[in-house]
Amino acid sequence: ANLALWARADEYHDSFLIKPDPILDSVQEKTKARGIDYEIAVSPAQGKFLHLLLLSINAQRVLEVVALELEDLHADVIEENVKAAGQTEKVRVVRGPALQSLEAMPDSTEKFDLAFIDADKENNTNYFIHAKRLVRKGGIIIVDNVGRRGRVADPASTDSSVEGVRALLRYIKDDPDVEATTIHTVGVKGFDGFLYAYNGKN
Ligand code: DHB
Ligand code: MG
Repeated sequence: ANLALWARADEYHDSFLIKPDPILDSVQEKTKARGIDYEIAVSPAQGKFLHLLLLSINAQRVLEVVALELEDLHADVIEENVKAAGQTEKVRVVRGPALQSLEAMPDSTEKFDLAFIDADKENNTNYFIHAKRLVRKGGIIIVDNVGRRGRVADPASTDSSVEGVRALLRYIKDDPDVEATTIHTVGVKGFDGFLYAYNGKN
């Protein structure tokens, strides 16, 4: 597969559809400068898709924008970037293992319109169960990186991230509360995909 072809295709479409954003450019520069693996960030096209989705549903509360961060370095850089972007009123960073932070959020927490799950893939199902609890009825749960270059469907792959995706798929198959679909993607980040789930409960 020719990944350069798809990186070029993504960049070509972006050049028409995504305006240059000096703040986002400086965020990327600063993130790189602090030694964070910025390659795992969503691509510009994916980021814009999430942005448009939030606009479409008039989202007021997003889990991840209440950002759960394990690493202090990552949390520090988010706070610096958010400050530089003048968005400190909108973003709250919660430090510590995301599962612990989620467990500390009671059912009575004001519900989120959308949750974006993009952490350690081994815990996908645990994050998903919390997201269902914390997202309003009719809200959206998106799980990043469920494509994993097609390896999820490859019986020879026993990679723990791949197993994490498989476990989530098994969970959702038997879950009467959500309807979900996987959209495979290809672009600057190579072959991957995201899972989109509609929360029918709460
Ligand atoms: C990985 C994690 C991500 O969140 C991502 O978008 C791409 C890759 C990873 O851990 O390999
Ligand atoms: Mg990701």
